[in-house]
Amino acid sequence: MLISHEDIPQVSQAFMNDTHKEEVELINTIFEHILAYDGSEESAETIDKLYTQWIEHTVNHFQKEEIKMQEMHFPPYLAHKGEHDRALQEMRDLFSHWQQQRDIKALKTYFIETLPAWLQTHISTMDTVTARFFATGQSPCGGGVC
Ligand SMILES: [Fe+2]
Ligand SMILES: [Fe+2]
Repeated sequence: MLISHEDIPQVSQAFMNDTHKEEVELINTIFEHILAYDGSEESAETIDKLYTQWIEHTVNHFQKEEIKMQEMHFPPYLAHKGEHDRALQEMRDLFSHWQQQRDIKALKTYFIETLPAWLQTHISTMDTVTARFFATGQSPCGGGVC
């Protein structure tokens, strides 16, 4: 297992925790198939299918947070959305590279070295602060932080 559920901090919004749990399960499933990749077209297509599902899930994951941030006029909306856009672009760029080159090493490197750390950091910082704002209306922008 690449990411254990205990590695992912809980935030104060159940809808976000549920989405994060699904995200972790999808990532772990893709990673299993990356490790099992045998160079065959069939094996590559399984990764394609799962990766496509993961991108769709991530688009949805980010949109749900962004819609609520806009509805509630979250002051640092643009900073949080900017990080979503950057991460999603990185996932899409890697997928294009994989589809063109079938470079399994690039997938492994990203899944081991980048993705778990990014997810953990994003959830423990931006998502945590955002969920607190959803629950309490308490903005992180006091004292000139934003
Ligand atoms: Fe999130
Ligand atoms: Fe987020």
